Amino acid sequence: MNNTLRLSEIAGVGHYVPNRVVTNADLTGLMDTTDEWIQERTGIRERRWFEEGKDTTANMGANAARKALEMAGLTPDDVQLIVFATLSPDYFFPGSGVLLQRELGIQAPIPAFDVRNQCSGFVYALSMADQFIKTGMYDTVLVVGSEIHSSGLDISTRGRAVSVIFGDGAGAVVLRPSTRAEHGILSTHLHSQGEHAEELIVKEPGSNRNNRVEYVVANELDMYPYMNGQNVFKHAVVRFPQVIKEALDQNGYQPQDLDMLIPHQANLRITQYVQQKMGLPESKIFSNIQRYGNTTAASVPIALSEAVQEGRIKRGDLVCLAAFGSGFTWASALIKW
Ligand code: UT7
Repeated sequence: MNNTLRLSEIAGVGHYVPNRVVTNADLTGLMDTTDEWIQERTGIRERRWFEEGKDTTANMGANAARKALEMAGLTPDDVQLIVFATLSPDYFFPGSGVLLQRELGIQAPIPAFDVRNQCSGFVYALSMADQFIKTGMYDTVLVVGSEIHSSGLDISTRGRAVSVIFGDGAGAVVLRPSTRAEHGILSTHLHSQGEHAEELIVKEPGSNRNNRVEYVVANELDMYPYMNGQNVFKHAVVRFPQVIKEALDQNGYQPQDLDMLIPHQANLRITQYVQQKMGLPESKIFSNIQRYGNTTAASVPIALSEAVQEGRIKRGDLVCLAAFGSGFTWASALIKW
């Protein structure tokens, strides 16, 4: 790492979730499941599902972005770059970044691009934004994570192992050059291991067949997410502590120096395992999966936004963001707030 480059800081953070609350009891009307099973295995009590005609991946991201910009004392016209993390874009192409630009009414032809890295998408996007600030290329970068899962889930008993987990929502941060010495994003750490690509996957519509439209019509089940849950769980509980420790080691910190750990909200059991493994008290690890389920690329910025709103992160705190998910990909960011 080149320490002479300037640091970036999170100048604003915000989130948006759809109004529609879907409880575990609601799901029992759609599939053979129980509130007890879902809570015991995942900690989830309810999640949000989007409203067709009202919420879109891009406009939920824009709602979160407006709050982040307001907190930063900026307007959409101040944004110089948009980085949009999602696995559920509005369109197959173009990406949701340009749609967000339109939603926010940004007339200037600023760059906008999508990051497709599933549960670790937001931390990857944050890392990319950080590089643009570090090198001096841009001063104001909007980083967004937004997802609509509910329209693509198999909500019959066949899909229950996956469908009870995912929820919809959006979060955003504004990155700016740090105004305080040694404060801001200290380092980011990105990893992937493509040998596990098919362990958590939505296969279709894939491009690698002669007529993908015909194929999808005949094989619509492959449009639903598949997860080898137990294997994903096994890797998650190894990679989370590893990538958090990597961030702490690089900056000369110990786990007890952490003031707040914001993990991707994959499963409350995974979070509790990580907490134990890192020797952290419950007060230093943020969980809101109980209310939102797993919102993949949106989960870290939603959790960060709530933690800030609740006053659980204050100036000077050492904060770690960490994520693991499909790919497999995993990542962390260590921040002196
Ligand atoms: O965000 C990206 C990363 N994702 C993750 O980290 C997720 C990691 N994996 C997990 O969190 C867990 O594997 C799950 C929560 C997804 C599943 O928990 P599990 O303890 O691994 O359950 P399982 O899939 O092994 O299923 C156990 C049993 C099965 O029944 P039998 O075969 O034992 O009779 C399932 O059919 O539970 C059954 N089952 C359900 N029962 C009621 C699966 N889903 C449900 C359900 N309700 N929704």
